[in-house]
Amino acid sequence: MDARDVGRHVTVRETRAFAPGRVNLIGEHTDYNHGLALPFAIAEGVTVRARAVDVGGIHAQALDLGEEDAFALPPPRAAGWRAFVRGVAAELHGAGVALPAVDLEIAGDVPRGAGLSSSAALEVALALALLALGGAHMEERELAGLCARVEGAWVGAHTGLLDQLASLCGLEGHALRIDFADLSVLPVPLALAGGWQLVTLDSGEPRMLAASGYNARRGECARACELLGVDSLREARTGDVARLPEPLARRAAHVLGENTRVRECVAALRAGDLPQVGALLDASHASLRDLYECSTPAVEATVERLRAAGAVGARMVGGGFGGHVLGLLPPGASAPPGARTVRPSGGARVDAAPGSH
Ligand code: GLA
Repeated sequence: MDARDVGRHVTVRETRAFAPGRVNLIGEHTDYNHGLALPFAIAEGVTVRARAVDVGGIHAQALDLGEEDAFALPPPRAAGWRAFVRGVAAELHGAGVALPAVDLEIAGDVPRGAGLSSSAALEVALALALLALGGAHMEERELAGLCARVEGAWVGAHTGLLDQLASLCGLEGHALRIDFADLSVLPVPLALAGGWQLVTLDSGEPRMLAASGYNARRGECARACELLGVDSLREARTGDVARLPEPLARRAAHVLGENTRVRECVAALRAGDLPQVGALLDASHASLRDLYECSTPAVEATVERLRAAGAVGARMVGGGFGGHVLGLLPPGASAPPGARTVRPSGGARVDAAPGSH
């Protein structure tokens, strides 16, 4: 799919931007290794209402938290949700977008810290709203990169582009096969007819990306590349990977196996073979647990609860070390208490309000 253009060339005085969270069906810890993933945008997301005002700097209200922030550009650092707002504004300012004085209202319904990408939803919605007010335009991949820089430079989580691209490119009824070697995005129909359901269940263990082993795993993959003399694990060969010292051999073996499972999952979806999708979810989870070592006892207990409810496959989603578990339930199975049904939904969007010119 060609990247759609997002943002607008016209200047608006008032706008509303929505960006969804995401579930990654399969393809975990592959994005920063130039591999493959198969996420979909979910219905839940973050909405940012932005209104240009005549004087002042940037004023933001987080309606769900009852908190606010105010700063001038370039902003000083801050923690929590403020780091995202300041980071997005600073990165856009640094990219030459002329931001007006603005009032921002932020509201959302993606559970925070759960592995459903509330942070990407926040970054993308903020960036789209500010781009619209700044009369600027940014292509999706460039915008995803800008948002990932916010995670790295302002929040301290050196993430890949999975969450931002899923949020930007989401398509109703589809998962997105993303190839991180060239950032191409291919929609793959994800039909859940006849009573099949995808659900997520919270492990109850908050996943703090920056504080978790995420950055450590990323460092291990970089070290594996150095030892193999390749630019990314996408170029690594199975035989060479097996000769790496541990734990690097296990980490790289996960990445190579996960790329294969993404390809197999696309084929299973195209064949309408949902039991096979379930088997691949289980295999992905086992690899994340045993080779990538990013599961926890609470995550394992949550996987077991989904299996006990009849799931044909269940796996952790996102960076791991806590967060939500995804389960694929066949017709007739009832989701365990607290599970939420997730549906492949549309991507980020901007509505210019009256006052546009
Ligand atoms: C987090 C990161 C993504 C990706 C996943 C693991 O969600 O933000 O970039 O690396 O973990 O697949």
